[in-house]
Amino acid sequence: MKMWDGRFSKPSDAMMEKFNNSLPFDKALIAEDIAGSIAWATALQRIGIFTSDELTLVVNGLQGILDDYNNGLITFKPQDEDIHMAVERILVERIGDTGARLHTGRSRNDQVATDCRLYTKNALKKTIDVLIELQRAVVYRAENDNQIIMPGFTHYQQAQPVLMSHYWMSFFFILEREKSRLAHALTTADMMPLGSGAMAGSGFNVDRTKIAEQLGFATVSPNSMDGVASRDFILESLSAIASLGITISRYAEDLILWSTKEFGFVELDDAWSTGSSIMPQKKNPDSLELIRGKSGRFVGNYMRFATTLKGIGLTYFKDLQEDKEPLFDSITHMEMVLKVFTQVLITLKVNKENITNDLDPLLLATDFADYLARKGLPFRMAHKVVGKIVAYCIEKSRPMTQLTLEELKQFSDIFEADVEKCFSFEEALNSRNIYGGTGPRSVKAQIELAKSMLDK
Ligand code: ARG
Repeated sequence: MKMWDGRFSKPSDAMMEKFNNSLPFDKALIAEDIAGSIAWATALQRIGIFTSDELTLVVNGLQGILDDYNNGLITFKPQDEDIHMAVERILVERIGDTGARLHTGRSRNDQVATDCRLYTKNALKKTIDVLIELQRAVVYRAENDNQIIMPGFTHYQQAQPVLMSHYWMSFFFILEREKSRLAHALTTADMMPLGSGAMAGSGFNVDRTKIAEQLGFATVSPNSMDGVASRDFILESLSAIASLGITISRYAEDLILWSTKEFGFVELDDAWSTGSSIMPQKKNPDSLELIRGKSGRFVGNYMRFATTLKGIGLTYFKDLQEDKEPLFDSITHMEMVLKVFTQVLITLKVNKENITNDLDPLLLATDFADYLARKGLPFRMAHKVVGKIVAYCIEKSRPMTQLTLEELKQFSDIFEADVEKCFSFEEALNSRNIYGGTGPRSVKAQIELAKSMLDK
């Protein structure tokens, strides 16, 4: 027996039943579904469909179902095609015909859209909270690794010296933008479709604003067809999570590389590493590799639902049932990614000595060119001159920072005794206190800015 089988002359094929059934995954929406039904029942009472006593009966019945579900006391039946029908069936079994009036003026189309929007709002709020914890861990690292000068890379070739804190803060600021993408998706989700009915608007003139207030929605959908058909809020959420996943994968990649014996810049805590089943010496950064690898899942979930959604006319089609699994999957795995990365960062051991020992004096080549440019040589020529000096250093195996003034003068007579300040990594940093630069004062300002952002 199906709730909708009045016009049917025979039951669905068993395989069709299984194919159609979304309960195995949409039962995750039970709390949202029950909240939505309580708000709907309350609205129906206001227009006289339920008496106050009946409303109490319905509300208690619904709450009882949720409690029992949370305590593992609910058994679903094969005819429960989704969570909405399951809850309604159990309600009617428990409180009788009064329960059968709950679906007055409502459709599963506005019901499921409401449930998913409620779920998305809660889930993104949580994602943002966990993301903020990761940002705090990043700031902790920036403050902790404050004095460490490391090679900054382009093409994974040593480029210019930077403060390690500067590197960490780059992570903070992109996370801030990822956060605003998530927050925007949350705002998109924050619109209540309930009262849209199947698609033309409910035939019962309930007060939609009051329902939205009860459910905590910021706005009410101004168009019922849009209300039931739109899933842009899911696509946007998946997109924001994919973007965050991609960003995080890049930092994971750096740390994986830096934790190799060849680099030795960092060491992961044992608690966040794993061993090999055959090579006893191995300690692998699996936490970071999974973090990096899950970016594929996040992008895949976005692609998967974008492909489904494309070309679905208005309004509701069963294709839209395919929205939930990618959404739940991305939300669940992103929460783990963020939490694990936070712990990896907090427990990370940074090997200051290895980093400092690795600094190649040629990292200062740009500063030599800047020196000549400051003394009036056009930068393009300064670049050439220093290029020749670099070639000389490599050929003679001479560290650039140990060249004598006489040696330097062979390349340009602009060099004077004050060139000495180009020999120091600290000086290279000090000359970059420009807003956003890696100079110590600039980095300190970045940390202050980050903290004020976190306090907001
Ligand atoms: N399980 C369905 C979904 O997730 C609920 C909506 C069903 N609506 C319908 N017209 N068949 O989309």
